[in-house]
Amino acid sequence: MESTRLHGSRTSCSSGNNMNREKKFKRKEVNSYCPLDPFAISVDLTFMSMWQILEKKKALDELVKAAYSEKDHLASLPSFRFYDRNGLSVYLESGHGDKLKSPVKNYIKNLLKVNMEGPYGSEWPMEEKVKYREMVAPDAYYIFVHEAPSANTSEISTMLAAQAENSSTSCIEDKGPLVGFVQYRFTVEEEIPVAYVYELQLEPCVQGKGLGKFLMQIIELIARKNQMGAVMLTVQKANLVAMEFYIRKMRYVISAISPSRVDPMLGIETSYEILCKAFDHEAKTILEVNLFLYTL
Ligand SMILES: CC(C)(COP(=O)(O)OP(=O)(O)OC[C@H]1O[C@@H](n2cnc3c(N)ncnc32)[C@H](O)[C@@H]1OP(=O)(O)O)[C@@H](O)C(=O)NCCC(=O)NCCS
Repeated sequence: MESTRLHGSRTSCSSGNNMNREKKFKRKEVNSYCPLDPFAISVDLTFMSMWQILEKKKALDELVKAAYSEKDHLASLPSFRFYDRNGLSVYLESGHGDKLKSPVKNYIKNLLKVNMEGPYGSEWPMEEKVKYREMVAPDAYYIFVHEAPSANTSEISTMLAAQAENSSTSCIEDKGPLVGFVQYRFTVEEEIPVAYVYELQLEPCVQGKGLGKFLMQIIELIARKNQMGAVMLTVQKANLVAMEFYIRKMRYVISAISPSRVDPMLGIETSYEILCKAFDHEAKTILEVNLFLYTL
């Protein structure tokens, strides 16, 4: 998965503007202005729409800030901290980009290389550098997957609770060996607050056992709990297994802001697609089926 994102252009919601235009005509008549003075109307409308845009931006920023203020999103999902299926027994733990210790950074780098060098092909050396920078960003939130070979769930619960009290993820590498991770962030795409999955990486030996699906379900839960409108991610077209996984299994769709949907010619030139799963009508309209993008 890569973080390259295309920022499409979109004007603010037209139905909202129509409603405000109607309200404005009424107010102007009461104040005995000429209701049809186009200059006055357009100045007033410009002011109103700027005010609305600023208010909306403020509200979106607040949502993102609130989502980031929760340091351990797994804390409110205790039953999702373990996965014991298909011969796989693992537990999950939260982490942050700016608190990773060297062994964890090295682990991430190695796994990225093992899994992603193939799909990226000749783009890998450059992409590798981008991914290393993203890896340690303060707004990079992680869910790490640790193998739990012998400990039972209550022992692990005690260990996780003790760590939570110390409010640190710094001793993460002292626990069961890592077998994978998800890196996600909260951001705004096309005026929709979204959880953006930057990486979902599992070691080959734990793939195909339902763990990827489980982790994506957790990300979707976290997104919904934090009032995000969608989950988004970027996939290399050459990564056929991942494409199959997201589209067929997880029911993601190619987003309206993916290069191939914005402009088919651009789509041919780019090596990736942006996928999304939207949770509400506005997010669906804008991120999944925005037909206006071609004409703007
Ligand atoms: C893509 C990835 C995250 C999927 O996670 P996973 O745990 O292997 O997937 P799951 O076991 O949850 O699979 C769910 C479904 O995805 C599909 N799938 C998963 N692995 C597959 C494979 N190797 N071949 C074909 N389909 C596959 C299947 O339809 C499977 O359905 P099933 O449960 O009915 O068999 C994981 O394989 C991985 O880490 N790959 C390498 C890194 C990568 O490409 N990450 C994504 C970058 S965008």
